[in-house]
Amino acid sequence: MKTTGLYALLCFSLSIFCLAEGVKLKDVLRKRRQSCESGTYRDEKTGVECCRCPRGYYVQSPCTRAGGDPKCELCTEGMSFMDDPNGKATCELCLPCEESANREVYKKCTPFTNTVCRCKDGHYCDKGDECTACYACDTCEFGVKVACNETSNTVCEGKTEPNVAAIVAAIVVCIAIVCICGGIFLWKKEKLCFRRPPEEKPINPEEFPLLKDVNLTGFLPEIAQKLGLQVVKDVTRRSQMLTDVEMENVEHDYPTAEEQTYQLLRLWYQKHGLKGAYSTLVNNLIRTDHRLPADQVQQIIKERNQSA
Ligand SMILES: *[C@@H]1O[C@H](CO)[C@@H](O)[C@H](O)[C@H]1NC(C)=O
Repeated sequence: MKTTGLYALLCFSLSIFCLAEGVKLKDVLRKRRQSCESGTYRDEKTGVECCRCPRGYYVQSPCTRAGGDPKCELCTEGMSFMDDPNGKATCELCLPCEESANREVYKKCTPFTNTVCRCKDGHYCDKGDECTACYACDTCEFGVKVACNETSNTVCEGKTEPNVAAIVAAIVVCIAIVCICGGIFLWKKEKLCFRRPPEEKPINPEEFPLLKDVNLTGFLPEIAQKLGLQVVKDVTRRSQMLTDVEMENVEHDYPTAEEQTYQLLRLWYQKHGLKGAYSTLVNNLIRTDHRLPADQVQQIIKERNQSA
């Protein structure tokens, strides 16, 4: 009876032991499964299926039995990384942020994550994940509407309207300048016509003093002959000494142009009087664009003076 009890106890103990061992075995298996949490890979060289190395690590040497752990090594800080569990024999190289592409480091490379680059200040890139280079933000002439940021260029304020206004203003100014210049030119030209006699001396004053009063009476026939009817008409009309009626009367009273010329001249001289008559005659000739006759008149007076 006693031995039966003993066997029962033994068997019970054994069951307990077996149960415990079973649990232990289960635990080991579970642990193994846990270590292969990230799945397995088949090693290229050995052809054995190993657990993957976790993030940040690479396979330095593969496992020797199926489901085993390979020897995993950490990637080199700042040089290489692995951002996923893997069966790779080398880590990926860290991304450089190209200074020449206007990029700088935003997040440093770690064994677990690649570098994150960003645009340098005042630069943008609107190509999203494709960005490999950044471009300088536009500067605005008429103020910023929307500021430049990492992903979009500056939007400028009312660029076109002031330009149109400026162009219109420039055109208006140009037209005004042309008008003013044209006006001044015409005005000067007009002035020049009046000023010509004093500016361009008709004769050499040393040779002959124009302003000196000369008694023209004796010269009138010769002067009339030299000038002709039309010139004398122009000059007398210019001096406003004779009325239209007086001039018409002369034309009416004398049949030939020669006589009309002489009579007109004589009448004019009579009305004008000796004082300043000679210079008035010469000046009026010049003013009515009869330079040659003006010179001829002066020549007549000059010759007479010299012979006197
Ligand atoms: C950049 O600006 C645009 C509008 O110009 C806006 O839509 C976008 O959200 C901004 N991005 C950042 C990162 O601020």
